[in-house]
Amino acid sequence: MCGIIGFVGKEGALEKLLSGLGALEYRGYDSAGVAFFEGNRLTAVKSGGRLDRLAEKLSVYDGGSISVGIGHTRWATHGEPSDINSHPHGNGRVFAVHNGIIENYVELSEYLGKRGYTFNSDTDTERAVLLIDYFYEKHGEPVAAIQNAVQMLAGSFALGVVFADYPDRVFAVRRESPLLISPSDEGSFLESDISAVLKYTRRFARLDEDEIAVLMGDDITYISKDGKLKHKEYETAEWDVEAAEKGGFPHFMLKEIHEEAESVRRTVRGRMCDGDAELELPDDFKERLYSAKRLHIVACGTAMHAGLIGKYAIEKLARIPTDVEIASEFRYRDPILDPTEPVIIISQSGETADSIAALRLARERGCPTLAIVNVPGSTIALEADAVLYTWAGPEIAVASTKAYSVQIALLYTLAIKLGGERGILTDLEREHLYGKLCEMDGYIEKATALSDRCREIAERYKNSTNMYFIGRGQDHALSQEAALKMKEISYIHCEAYAAGELKHGTISLIEEGTPVFAFATEGKVYDKLVSNIREVRSRGASVVLYVPDSFHVEDGIADDVVRLPSALELFMPLVAVCAAQLTAYHTAVLLGRDVDKPRNLAKSVTVE
Ligand code: M6R
Repeated sequence: MCGIIGFVGKEGALEKLLSGLGALEYRGYDSAGVAFFEGNRLTAVKSGGRLDRLAEKLSVYDGGSISVGIGHTRWATHGEPSDINSHPHGNGRVFAVHNGIIENYVELSEYLGKRGYTFNSDTDTERAVLLIDYFYEKHGEPVAAIQNAVQMLAGSFALGVVFADYPDRVFAVRRESPLLISPSDEGSFLESDISAVLKYTRRFARLDEDEIAVLMGDDITYISKDGKLKHKEYETAEWDVEAAEKGGFPHFMLKEIHEEAESVRRTVRGRMCDGDAELELPDDFKERLYSAKRLHIVACGTAMHAGLIGKYAIEKLARIPTDVEIASEFRYRDPILDPTEPVIIISQSGETADSIAALRLARERGCPTLAIVNVPGSTIALEADAVLYTWAGPEIAVASTKAYSVQIALLYTLAIKLGGERGILTDLEREHLYGKLCEMDGYIEKATALSDRCREIAERYKNSTNMYFIGRGQDHALSQEAALKMKEISYIHCEAYAAGELKHGTISLIEEGTPVFAFATEGKVYDKLVSNIREVRSRGASVVLYVPDSFHVEDGIADDVVRLPSALELFMPLVAVCAAQLTAYHTAVLLGRDVDKPRNLAKSVTVE
């Protein structure tokens, strides 16, 4: 959701800005733009639509000689996607790119209107930029202008700003929205996330709230909220540029499905030591977590679906009641939270606005907070009391795949740990379960080999208008993720249902040929699921059954059967989800969808 890049160096700024914007495309956008200095002349070029349209407009400039600029990919919030609403915004004297939402933009419009300003766009960003301009006019100095302006801004923002009078520098400031600063041999960058600059550097520092950075050649100055010069340490990201490229796959999504086995291996085996998991948690936090009487898991989308699988495993193995909630509901619901009850926030990006708000609410209520996050140094990772990283590497496709697998693998690791610590599992049981979990990468690899079978299924059902996804127990949780994956990239309407619940209403929607995808990985409810399959088939449904190859499947029970490699039942979602993701992937490809960047969606949902 919106991406920022900025560069100050010796030369080649346009190329670097476009390369950065290209790497940020995955976040989702509908327009793009840059502002840059040609000598002392400040120019802004922007365009609705994809980056190649912007690149075409920029092709008339001599990119080699341009050394300072800012760029942006915009995912529309205020105002439709169009050239005029694209960033950078400004008035010739000041230009800025912005991520986030300025909540008091109506008041700011009034404030600026009274001071003679008029507006070209519908965007909240334009108000923020003109406010900076207003204070620049007043103080004649960029840092003071930015400081004064941000004091009046409500909401979230990451801003990259250039002033026509200062053609050798770029200014940056942020609140709530992330912004990184990266020195490199080529010059200095600012960026929304490290993937934008991996081609040039892996070093980064995160701007603090309301802190200002001034980038001038190799020199980067940091000024704290209270106006003091600050020294900043740089971190080095472990991700490399290959990890953020397609590596021969036609889509990031397919590449990332194929990375699931390795990601799970890293996440689980990387924590194993003598038959037990070593969780990188502070001791006092461990005590509160292991003795908890109830847990809360809060997340959005796929991460919430991972939480549902986690609930199942934690309740089964550690017997701790675990509530799972959608972050956007949790934050406004006044939830009943006891300070002894840990709240676990799951997020791939660590920047999802609703999940951040849920985390802050839990902290306000005195609950211990644990982040399960993929992106190092992200807001959720930094603000939670403790963090467990899912070591999946960068996930670029909007549809989350490997991030889900590592989230559930980590939740299994945690569930076994909790079971052991609470004496629910014996040492032998704990070791046995960890042993089985460590074998899961092999099963996932075998599941990815089902790609051709999943393409056949996709071919058969791709023209459906509606699809239903059913399962019981953990398979119900899994079917919710399978339905989300299919709908978000194929645009086919999909619903997930607990199989036993169908006949309480939804079965009236089943008609001749309606596809029903049934997941049956739990032996104890297999017969029950088969009864549900009979119910829908007798009403005309075409059933695709995903089932472990060790289960006996009666002839003719389903129209199509996808045989999954049989692992320990509890961990079967790791295998089955791979087949579900591949089915969704091939459906979207066959329908000609934009698989990695589905319409209307953003990778990181940084606004509520
Ligand atoms: O970065 P997060 O894990 O917090 O993101 C949560 C959801 O926005 C995300 O999982 C979304 O549902 C994906 N598009 C699903 O594929």
